[in-house]
Amino acid sequence: MITRERRASARRYLMCPPEHFAVTYAINPWMAPDEPTDAARARRQWTRLRQVYLELGHDVQTIEPVPGLPDMVFAANGGTVVGGKVLGARFRYPQRAGEAGAYLDWFAGRGYREIRVPEHVHEGEGDVLFAGEVLLAGYGFRSDQAVAAELAGLFGLPVVSLRLIDPRFYHLDTALCVLDEDTAMYYPAAFDDAGRAALAARFTELIEVKDEDAEVLGLNAVSDGRHVVLPVQAATLAGQLFQRGFIPVGVDMSELLKGGGGAKCCTLELR
Ligand code: ARG
Repeated sequence: MITRERRASARRYLMCPPEHFAVTYAINPWMAPDEPTDAARARRQWTRLRQVYLELGHDVQTIEPVPGLPDMVFAANGGTVVGGKVLGARFRYPQRAGEAGAYLDWFAGRGYREIRVPEHVHEGEGDVLFAGEVLLAGYGFRSDQAVAAELAGLFGLPVVSLRLIDPRFYHLDTALCVLDEDTAMYYPAAFDDAGRAALAARFTELIEVKDEDAEVLGLNAVSDGRHVVLPVQAATLAGQLFQRGFIPVGVDMSELLKGGGGAKCCTLELR
């Protein structure tokens, strides 16, 4: 296979330490409140992820975790940030509602001047992926389809709405990962026919991910255009990426997976 050269660009990420991480309620099929979680292990895995980003040359900001908000570690849901503008989060479930204000305060305190509170349910970059001047917006489980108009209005970018149909892949970033503006990887069974067609039209290279890799949230990955940080358990996917000229960087996020999230969920890109 002949591949073009993959180019990395430095990124800026926001992360939230898993100080208060626990599974105390179930709002997605991965969460089992009866099973124990290990806070120290979550902390080690999160710290390693942060270290990986720093070693790749990225900037990592952190937000202070709030007691009583065990899912706040999943920073991707804290909002959508493009061109320095912020669309804040509005969470589907009351258990996470308190996070929205904490993230808005963080943006306000860091000099972000265009910050909007959404009218519709919007779980941030968990359901919004940036693909080279187009926003891909997932709906069906968590974010509302109607938030697409708010995204288009604030950011001035076209929005492609994608319906999610498999409850295990409830946020767009569990079913699709944009590797660069022309390349993505996805789990076809998580989308309807219209969604699959829209993705085929948008990307020149579209990598199909196998069941076993999707089932360890292999798509919950973070690409800088060359390095792809993904669960170490997604071994076949790592091979597919390598063949196409990307450099897979495996991380173990198994403790945070008990909450239904991986590396990408723990990371909000500040564009
Ligand atoms: N327990 C969290 C929830 O269900 C996990 C969020 C995962 N975040 C993501 N970007 N997919 O809301």
